[in-house]
Amino acid sequence: MQTITLPRPDDWHLHLRDGAMLRAVLPESARHFARAIIMPNLVPPVVTLDDAQAYHQQIMAALPQGMDFEPLMTLYLTESTDPTDVERAAASGLVKAVKLYPAGATTNSHGGVRDLNMVMPVLETMARIGLPLCTHGEVTTPEVDIFDREAVFIDTVLDPLRRSLPELRVVMEHITTEEGVAYAAEGSDTLAATITTHHLIINRNHILAGGIKPHYYCLPVAKREKHRLALRRAATSGSPRYFLGTDSAPHVDALKEHACGCAGCFTATNTMSLLAHVFEEEGALDRLEGFASRHGPTFYGLPVNERTLTLEKRTEPCIWPEKIQADPGPVTVFNPGFPVHWHVVT
Ligand code: NCD
Ligand code: ZN
Repeated sequence: MQTITLPRPDDWHLHLRDGAMLRAVLPESARHFARAIIMPNLVPPVVTLDDAQAYHQQIMAALPQGMDFEPLMTLYLTESTDPTDVERAAASGLVKAVKLYPAGATTNSHGGVRDLNMVMPVLETMARIGLPLCTHGEVTTPEVDIFDREAVFIDTVLDPLRRSLPELRVVMEHITTEEGVAYAAEGSDTLAATITTHHLIINRNHILAGGIKPHYYCLPVAKREKHRLALRRAATSGSPRYFLGTDSAPHVDALKEHACGCAGCFTATNTMSLLAHVFEEEGALDRLEGFASRHGPTFYGLPVNERTLTLEKRTEPCIWPEKIQADPGPVTVFNPGFPVHWHVVT
């Protein structure tokens, strides 16, 4: 029997929502992950330090007894964000990053940024104090094809921004293309990229061929196979530029299986087993630890977790619940479409 033990992993991009959905999904992450960067795209969004403190309290209150989990809070960048508030938020120790959503890019992003010039004072403050900017890296101009939005964002938004503010620490979140992989590889050590579990597993055929599969639809949308392979090479390369951000994003089935379905894959429950499977397929099980447990803390300047997580490869496949029962409705757990034998045991 094969086992692997890693320092407890962290999730560097997670949607926990609030209220009853938060209570239903939080244990799914807290069971395996020690910490997570918590996305601020609530309705209304988490914009100020006060909002982040209130949301942090709500998360801690929802955490079941006996579970240990540290939410790393983020602020949702708007064109009226106050640089002083951002500086206070970073100094409080509670807020670990600011999130850039181009307006209209994804779920609950209408309050996002239209004109980067409007937020330059905030970005300059962040560059000065070393607070990372997490970017949803897609342009939203309707003329740009949805499959090209990440590559165009890199050329027209990210690269110019990094040239004008090279000290700004930037996380390219949930990269989905070989262009994203290449750009992250070339940058200085102020640049990193997160990769989701599902983008290592699905390409766009999984969403669209043989009938539309709404549970595989997320943003950025999965691309061609060559991009999935580039992401696998990056994640398993051992490079500290790439680390895990699941982007686990719960939506109730009624809104996924819908005429205008929501974007998001829910992978909190089975991510660690799926990653062990993927890394083993790539002959890189020994690099899972870097990707899931070490590179993220290094970039964020945080200690690696002392607790550990052990996975065991068994003959019988893992059985996960098909759905998490949340009060607002069931949430479908990501189904990789193949059996997985790596069980999380502790
Ligand atoms: C996320 C959500 O549902 O909040 N959806 C997704 O497809 N990833 C938003 C996001 O991160 O884009
Ligand atoms: Zn997300």
